[in-house]
Amino acid sequence: MPSPAPSSPISCWSRPLAEILGASGLVVELGARRGLFRTRPGVRAVDGVDLSVATGETFGIVGESGCGKTTLARTLLGLQREAAGEIRLEGRPVSGQAAAAARRARAAVQYVHQDPGAALDPWWPVGATLAEGLRIHGVADRAEQQARIAEMLAAVGLDPAFAARYPHELSGGQQRRIGLARILLLRPKVVILDEPTAGLDLSVQASVLRLLRDLRGQFGLTYLFISHDLSVVRRVCDRVAVMYLGRVVEQGRAEALFAAPQHPYTRALLAAAPRLDGAAAGPSLPGDPPSLRAIPGGCRFHPRCTLADTRCGQQEPALAPLGPDRLAACHHARRAA
Ligand SMILES: Nc1ncnc2c1ncn2[C@@H]1O[C@H](COP(=O)(O)OP(=O)(O)OP(=O)(O)O)[C@@H](O)[C@H]1O
Ligand SMILES: [Mg+2]
Repeated sequence: MPSPAPSSPISCWSRPLAEILGASGLVVELGARRGLFRTRPGVRAVDGVDLSVATGETFGIVGESGCGKTTLARTLLGLQREAAGEIRLEGRPVSGQAAAAARRARAAVQYVHQDPGAALDPWWPVGATLAEGLRIHGVADRAEQQARIAEMLAAVGLDPAFAARYPHELSGGQQRRIGLARILLLRPKVVILDEPTAGLDLSVQASVLRLLRDLRGQFGLTYLFISHDLSVVRRVCDRVAVMYLGRVVEQGRAEALFAAPQHPYTRALLAAAPRLDGAAAGPSLPGDPPSLRAIPGGCRFHPRCTLADTRCGQQEPALAPLGPDRLAACHHARRAA
């Protein structure tokens, strides 16, 4: 299948969209301990997230470090159990199962790790890691394994000879390509990319993004694209959800959201982001996000928000529609526009 021209936007908003991966009211608690004498409550790293990712789109998740992006991804994958809420894959609920059953039910969803080296065994040539993945998924014939690995290495732009290399013999960009080959061999429909360009220099970033776009077309993939880098998200995502302390505070079409952010948190994130055109970034966000063990009452962003008033300290705003393609959770969202 031909891949899209380099300048074509990755956009499918204008087509009617069917949900491939969705969540409603998702709550994830981490770090709870139940001892004989002492019980320590967990923290809510994801706290009531609704999400609906459409077939073929690239859906971005942004937010400061610790806001729950990776936890959300791990839960969608079935690696982390939800405390409440529902996860749907291709219209079917897949929640509430034990980890092994959850992984089986969600085999069509694969994850590219935030740390690309972490998914590779340092003692094995990468070809052996790739073959092991195939073996676990029922491809036992060695000749078929080798053929599929060579084909996939070519698809991610690497020479088949890379199969003989060890992870430490690869650059960061090459590790990411191997990470992609590893999960694409399993023929996923949805790929969760956790910080896919972090730690890469600009030219390698650009080539990884081009590869992702081509693979999306070639394999008919849907991406959930987690990133700190707003300039990358703006370039590659169709829609974006902005997370703050475990909640989605704004969501919309990437182009419109970045052009006119409605939530003060999105505005502050954008203002603080480094600019590609060389212009100085605006002031950084005031203060650090509060601890998940001491989430402020009312709007959880209010202690850092320049628009906060008494109501914001008392009443948590719901994520509400502001227009056909935009949701925001802010008492001042219209005024802030
Ligand atoms: N086992 C745990 N026990 C308690 N808290 C945890 C545990 N694991 C993660 N957390 C907390 O959960 C929150 C969400 O973590 P998560 O890794 O999902 O954030 P993130 O948005 O992916 O951050 P980053 O951008 O740095 O990757 C963080 O505040 C983290 O400290
Ligand atoms: Mg993370």
